[in-house]
Formats: sequence, C-alpha cells, structure tokens
Amino acid sequence: MTNCLFLRALSGEKTTIPPLWLMRQAGRYLPEYREVRSKAGGFLELCYNPAFATEVTLQPIRRFGFDAAILFSDILVVPHALGQKVWFAEGEGPKLEALADAGDLAKLDEELNPERLAPVFETVERVRAALPAETALIGFCGAPWTVASYMLAGKGTPDQAPARLVAYSDPVFLDRLIERLIEASIVYLNRQIDAGAQVVQVFESFASALPPGLIEKLSFTPLRRIVAGVKAKHPQAKVILFARGAGPRLEGLAQSSGADGIGLDWGVDPRWAAATLNPEVTLQGNLDPLALIAGGEALQRDVAAIREAMSERPFIFNLGHGIQPQTPVAHVEQLVKLVRS
Ligand code: CP3
Repeated sequence: MTNCLFLRALSGEKTTIPPLWLMRQAGRYLPEYREVRSKAGGFLELCYNPAFATEVTLQPIRRFGFDAAILFSDILVVPHALGQKVWFAEGEGPKLEALADAGDLAKLDEELNPERLAPVFETVERVRAALPAETALIGFCGAPWTVASYMLAGKGTPDQAPARLVAYSDPVFLDRLIERLIEASIVYLNRQIDAGAQVVQVFESFASALPPGLIEKLSFTPLRRIVAGVKAKHPQAKVILFARGAGPRLEGLAQSSGADGIGLDWGVDPRWAAATLNPEVTLQGNLDPLALIAGGEALQRDVAAIREAMSERPFIFNLGHGIQPQTPVAHVEQLVKLVRS
C-alpha cells in the first residue's frame, strides 16, 4: 500500500505530486475505446462482458499511467439488476421504463441479488489482477437520489423535475425507493470490494437539483449510510463522495459523512474548499472538463491554480466532472505532464 500514491493521499498524506485520475477516463475520446465499443454491440453488453470491460478499464492506464483505474460499468446497472428495464438508445443516452408509483416499485426485486451483477465482479477481479500494485482500483455506484431520478423520469432530465415532483407529491414512495437503493448500493459496493476494489466512489451527480429542505434527507443521509455500510464490512476500504452542485453545502457533508475523500465539481472555488472543508478529508478535483478540451494556456493556468490552492492538503487531481468525448488525447497527455511537473 505504501507505494500507491493514490491510497497514500486518500489516507491523509500530503504528497508532493498529487495522484491523478479522471472521471470517465475510459470512453469515447479514446480511439481504442471506440474500437472495443463497436465490437461489443450495445453499451450494456460492454458493461456485462468481463473481457471487454477489463480491456477498456485498462486502456487509459496503459496510455496515460494514471494513479487509479475505475471499473468500467454504469450507475444504471443497479436498477437493471433490481429488475427495471434499462437500455441505451444509440446517441440518446440511457432510457428506463419509468416507475409511476409504489405499485411499480413493488414489481421490482426487494433486495439486490448480487448474482445478477456477477460479470461486473468478475471484471473487478480481472482488472485488479492485471494492475500493478502502485495503481489503485476504484469501484463505484450512483447515489440513491441520482439513480432514483433516472428510475422515476425514465431518462436523463435537465433539472430532475419528475423526481423532485415525487419528493413533494408522494414522499412515502420516494422514501421507499431511496431506502431500497441505499441497501442495494451497500451490497453492491461491498461485493466490488470483495472482488478487489480498494476504493469506492459514490456519484451524486444531481445534488444541485435538491432544495435546502430535501438535500439532507434525500442525499446526505443516504450517502452517510452507504459510507457506514461499507466501512462496517470493510474498515480498510476508502470511500469518496462526489456530490455535484452541492456548493457550500459540501461543508456539512465533509464534516459528518465519514468518507475519506470529497470530490469537488468545477463550480467549487478550490481556495474556498481548501480553507473550509473538514481538514480530515482528502479533496479531489476539479478542473473544468472544458478547460481540458481547450488546452493551451487556459489549461496551464487552471491546473496551476488548483495545485496552488491545494498545496497544504492531501489532494487528488481530477476533473470537476466526466471527460467529454471531444477531448483531444494530446491535451490529456499535456495535463499529465502539468500535474506531475
Ligand atoms: O469513469 C469511468 O471511466 C467509469 C465508467 C463510468 C461510466 N458511467 C461509463 C459510461 C462511470 C463512473 C459512469 C457513471 C455515470 N453514468 C453517471 C455518474 C457520473 C456523471 O457523469 O455524473 C451517470 C449520471 C451515468 C448515466 C449515464 N451513462 C449517462 C448520462 C450516459 C450517457 C452519457 C453520454 O456521454 O452519452 C451513460 C453512458 C455511458 N456511461 C458512457 C460511458 C463511457 C457512454 C456510452 C457509450 O460509449 O456510448
């Protein structure tokens, strides 16, 4: 463990050079990903094929030597494994058969049967076996609110209006759904750790949508329970929470979640975060993915500003959200040089 820069930073060590990985680092900006993707057929077929999923997980490690690999999968495999219909329409993003009410929820499995996700755990095993000891392996899931917002809308929505409406109009239904997703997420993450993941990240991509009166109940309490459920079974495992758009509410989350790391989206001022957020947690982030597309001076300036702001804290360099498909590979190479210089 001591030679793994990423795990050292997540354990609270201030490293001279921050470890580096990128959210969505396996993906369409890489020609070698597009090649495997076209062989796999659909996107879910890629996620459930351990040979292909292992290959695309390893591609960015081979090319850029990142300090951590992230399991190639998707947050929507959990609703899929619970029995909801999920598909990826080419060029349109994810689609689900939306849940209208508690009656629809009752048709899904009460508990996650992890056997349904056996190919994912096999991928974790294969990736861990293929990685050098100094490269960490990150597993992940979506946070209950983020996953619920897809289950209720049946697709991605700009402001999660369908799920927000249910939070007001049928709170008992939403509470039940969130409860089921908390339990499923704990089982799912613990199985990923059993299979070889050393770290898990929970993606709360839509924290921004939650009004002040709902964020504690629908996001932060579920996140805290997931951290506790993972740590109860795997005290040595590390947990990172990425609550996108939580803004100043990150202060409360960092204080009380029990997580080892807090991810910052690109809207957070790194100087504010460094000065304000619980000094016990490792911060991760938060270059704007568009600065990486632009490259050049904008990239140099922002990388320097983030590193400067974080120089007094344990820190992991990342983007402030997933890498975009149009990102030039040469700019990622430039980023690696800048972060490691
Ligand atoms: O980081 C990684 O490299 C690991 C893989 C990963 C994917 N999705 C692969 C993927 C991870 C961690 C995710 C998480 C995920 N999936 C989130 C949370 C993170 C975030 O971005 O906020 C969300 C909201 C989803 C749901 C989802 N899956 C969407 C909205 C889409 C369409 C996005 C798009 O750019 O088309 C997906 C599909 C998806 N998941 C792709 C990849 C590489 C693109 C699919 C393809 O290759 O055609």
